[in-house]
Amino acid sequence: MQHYIVSTIKSNNLKNYFMRYFGNNIKTLVNNLVVSYTDQGPDDAPVLIFIHGFPLNKSMWNKQVEELKKNYRVIVYDIRGHGDSDAGTEDFSIRLFENDLIMLMDKLKINKASLCGLSMGGYIALNALVYNPERFDSLVLSDTSCLADTPEAKTKRLNAINTILEKGVNYYADESIKNLFAPESFITNENEIILVKEMISNTKEVSICCSLLALSARKETCHKLSGIEVPVLILVGEEDKITPPEVSQMMFENIKNSTLHIIQHAAHLSNMENPEEYNNQLQRFFNTVYKKTTKVLTGNDNSIMSQLSSKLNILLSF
Ligand code: MLT
Repeated sequence: MQHYIVSTIKSNNLKNYFMRYFGNNIKTLVNNLVVSYTDQGPDDAPVLIFIHGFPLNKSMWNKQVEELKKNYRVIVYDIRGHGDSDAGTEDFSIRLFENDLIMLMDKLKINKASLCGLSMGGYIALNALVYNPERFDSLVLSDTSCLADTPEAKTKRLNAINTILEKGVNYYADESIKNLFAPESFITNENEIILVKEMISNTKEVSICCSLLALSARKETCHKLSGIEVPVLILVGEEDKITPPEVSQMMFENIKNSTLHIIQHAAHLSNMENPEEYNNQLQRFFNTVYKKTTKVLTGNDNSIMSQLSSKLNILLSF
């Protein structure tokens, strides 16, 4: 359900005041595409943008939003063709998804932010940083890789497309979750498994197939890692078989200002399987990145009434 209130804030590094909508499932037009996003947390806090994995949606970050919105302005959005965002008419590609992200930032007048991307979200985040380094303070690469698909992986993607066309998305969802979660998560994280199955089943067949083609055509970015200047946190589930810890180790060795942390009791969806450890790592990392600017708020300071009254003050000061 769409639920938001409006505030008037001064955009960072931009002179103009503009209206900020904050709340859940806000719809905005970006490049003629309806994009759905959630925007929580204080107006003047550093901005964190989370990018979901394939073929999921922004709700995979619910536990991170709940925690981090106390100290940061947190934005999660649905990549085109996923969740509540339109698919548009262009062929999907990681560069197109990256361009959508930059245009969303422009639309929301966000000059600079930190990015956290999981798996496909990590491919997008890495491209966004490489091609727009001036727009980002830091990066979290979670359960992801800088490598391109091998010929075998490309064949697997084509087989997956055939399976979806033959047996449907629900069957594909059932098969996918077997690889996304650690065996113990099937006992300890039943709710998350149901949620992920729903996210996949609710994604349109055509969007899943187009995303599979985009994933298989993506370019490697490993040769760009040594040029990254911002702090990078690399997180990976200890049992991740899709983007295994060895790949994270390789990225860690190639990014000069990076930290690697292996998330216990987790596989590919480490943020959902072990949110406590995952959130602790994020808090610690962003605390370091924003040590001079982070404002710690109490639950009360962050309430809708308190935010409304601070908006009113800004409006009265015009
Ligand atoms: C994802 O979680 O986004 C996908 O597993 C990425 C991939 O298949 O390469």
